[in-house]
Amino acid sequence: MSKKMWGGRFAAGTDHLVEAFTASIQVDRRLYAEDIRGSMAHARMLGRVGVLTEAEVEAIVTGLAQVRQEIVEDRLPFVDALEDIHMHVESRLTEIIGDVGKKLHTGRSRNDQVATDLRLYTRGCLDDLVRELQHLQHVFIDLAEREVETILPGLTHMQVAQPISFGHHCMAYVEMFHRDTQRLLDARRRVNVLPLGAAALAGTTFPIDRWDVARQLGFEAVAENSLDAVSDRDFVMEALSDLAILAVHLSRLSEELILWMSAPFGFIDLPDGFCTGSSIMPQKKNPDVAEIIRGKSGRVIGDLVAILVLMKGQPLAYNRDNQEDKETLFDALDQMRASVEIMGRMLPGLQTRPDVMRAQAERGFATATDLADYLVRKGLPFRDAHAVVGRAVRLAQERNIGLEALPLADLQALSPLIDREVYAVLVLEGSLAARDHLGGTAPRQVQAAIQRARERLQRE
Ligand code: ARG
Repeated sequence: MSKKMWGGRFAAGTDHLVEAFTASIQVDRRLYAEDIRGSMAHARMLGRVGVLTEAEVEAIVTGLAQVRQEIVEDRLPFVDALEDIHMHVESRLTEIIGDVGKKLHTGRSRNDQVATDLRLYTRGCLDDLVRELQHLQHVFIDLAEREVETILPGLTHMQVAQPISFGHHCMAYVEMFHRDTQRLLDARRRVNVLPLGAAALAGTTFPIDRWDVARQLGFEAVAENSLDAVSDRDFVMEALSDLAILAVHLSRLSEELILWMSAPFGFIDLPDGFCTGSSIMPQKKNPDVAEIIRGKSGRVIGDLVAILVLMKGQPLAYNRDNQEDKETLFDALDQMRASVEIMGRMLPGLQTRPDVMRAQAERGFATATDLADYLVRKGLPFRDAHAVVGRAVRLAQERNIGLEALPLADLQALSPLIDREVYAVLVLEGSLAARDHLGGTAPRQVQAAIQRARERLQRE
């Protein structure tokens, strides 16, 4: 007979290759705390409904605490022969407390057990990530406040478009990270549902109290359907979707930091402690942290695709394919947590180069739209104003000067509506200040947005 816990019906032992191939212990060992917590709650419930005696529950709970201690102290060897974390915990428990340990699995299957563990673990990781994301929002809000008055050439199509407040640009990321936070918190609600009690797929013949277990483990709801509870992984897909969106936001941010720090831009400098050098080129200071974060997005998007494809062909209920759900989820959770954390540490040390950014804004005719708006206020239809300013830009370009350097006579030759006051609208600061409405880049609006974002974070 096979020596496995499930070996009764097997005449022969498991092939060693199969043992190694089917084992998941090296991946799911990190679920040990959740597994033990879930088992304790299950045992206590079995005691309350009369399936286990009080003494049995006591022995199981004390034994489980000892197993946990051994794992924490790295004293429990993990071996492929015991497949996964659930088998390791149960077998060690039985070694410690004897036959009573074998009663723990009453009314339970590894199928509902693993789903419970994974939900508990994911919930904890989402909470940690949400805290890191809130910290990152704080960092960005502080940076925005420091740089409210700093002028950055805003780009569309990677061409200079209009001048904006550097703080306004920072606040764009605060909005993205706020939505990421909200998405994760929303996903958490659907993660936080108890599968335990579904057993293998159909429920159990024992008089279990699922709400008792849910309350002990902090689950807000109990899964309604036993088949769904053990077989679906949409909570993994949803968490990974949200993580992939977050990864894309971080990647876009990284891309901007990398560009801005390059010599042709020269808009910012990142702190030495967050950059690395080259083994051959002595002058180099590379934004490797940002590059790696940009690279992580490829990984996390891959993790999402992997779980979607993993699930799409599976009939109900549990299939062993599901064992492959963890590596991708763990990877994405790890990578995003580390990325958000390091971004939050790096950004306070970001230094802006306001004069470089100003010069680029001026060279790119960033106030051309302001000139068109000025002509509209003088009564010219916008399309005509657009054409007049287009000619002004061509003139300035031919002379290699900014719009603000064109003599009044030349401007008036293009449109008699132009007078001396035109130069006020051609100034970068004036352009910013004029966009003075909710969501606009006027420094006082950015300051108000900062205030609102701080209040929103308080409530989050
Ligand atoms: N290691 C398995 C997993 O991660 C646990 C469930 C195994 N269930 C089974 N019937 N073989 O999915």
